[in-house]
Amino acid sequence: MTMKVEEPIEGIIKQLYRADHQLVLGDTFKTLKTFDDQKFDLVITSPPYNVGKEYETKQSIEKYLEQQEEVIAELIRVTSNKGSICWQVGNYVDKGEIFPLDIFYYQIFKKYGLKLRNRIIWHFGHGLHASKRFSGRYETILWFTKTDDYIFNLDEVRVPSKYPGKRHFKGPKKGQLSGNPKGKNPSDIWEIVIRDWEKSLWNIPNVKSNHPEKTEHPCQFPVELVERCILALTRQGSWVLDPYAGVGSALLASIKNERNAVGIEKKKKYVSIAEQRIKDMKEGKLKLRPINKPVHQPKATDKIAQMPKEWKNPSLFNNNGKHE
Ligand SMILES: C[S@@+](CC[C@H](N)C(=O)[O-])C[C@H]1O[C@@H](n2cnc3c(N)ncnc32)[C@H](O)[C@@H]1O
Repeated sequence: MTMKVEEPIEGIIKQLYRADHQLVLGDTFKTLKTFDDQKFDLVITSPPYNVGKEYETKQSIEKYLEQQEEVIAELIRVTSNKGSICWQVGNYVDKGEIFPLDIFYYQIFKKYGLKLRNRIIWHFGHGLHASKRFSGRYETILWFTKTDDYIFNLDEVRVPSKYPGKRHFKGPKKGQLSGNPKGKNPSDIWEIVIRDWEKSLWNIPNVKSNHPEKTEHPCQFPVELVERCILALTRQGSWVLDPYAGVGSALLASIKNERNAVGIEKKKKYVSIAEQRIKDMKEGKLKLRPINKPVHQPKATDKIAQMPKEWKNPSLFNNNGKHE
């Protein structure tokens, strides 16, 4: 009989620095069974999308969703009555046809009585260029609550107003400032980059050093994306769970903001990277993109933002718009 060497050993492999941070190497469903009811104020995750990444075996969408439903039932059990579940997904793709996973997941959460508060669009400016459909430039986060009495701290996540000096121009408040001095609601469209593409693109020799958070994981969360959910949907001392923790981005965001965190991950190599990142963060060595840092916009005078001279002469192109 051959032994699978990559088979994970289950159990808590380390109490990370404080007794209330745990990274569990093991299977999500089996591990969840061991957690108490209502332990977590926030479950935030990006589950496997069933697209054949190195950590998953692609199966029919029906089978995949059936298994995920079993996990979701357990996640709802471990979520507190004031708590939230943030489910971040993109598309499952089969022979060029896309299946937006949030459409399917919404039905499952609704069946268990959860209430959708926002369907957040996470927009990013870069990615693969499609040739038979429009290039995908967003994924979504479904934010569900278990009840109507839920934690929501809007002031913690306000962003600077575009026009802070704007005043009411008519009515009883005419002349008074119309905005909030703490900033505006960040809305349900978030432009958060995983890498500082904006800098690296314009500064090509420094590509490597300008990727502050990227590890070898194929689809990790930007820490900033999780931080916004954590600040808005939990309190200091709350417990946060990422049941598919990958390289620990949700744990980093939690620890950074004084929330207790548990992550479950089946791949030992990702758990090791997560541990190292947490250690580095504690020692002040981890590069993180600061929350609410504006996304870089190139200046019209930047060389890279200008039409190249070759493209100014259409006779030099073939029918695909490519240079002959
Ligand atoms: C989309 S990734 C999440 C990445 C994570 N958000 C991060 O920032 O690194 C999904 C993760 O779930 C893990 N995973 C998949 N199935 C699992 C299971 N049954 N039990 C535990 N982990 C699992 C994969 O190894 C992968 O790292």
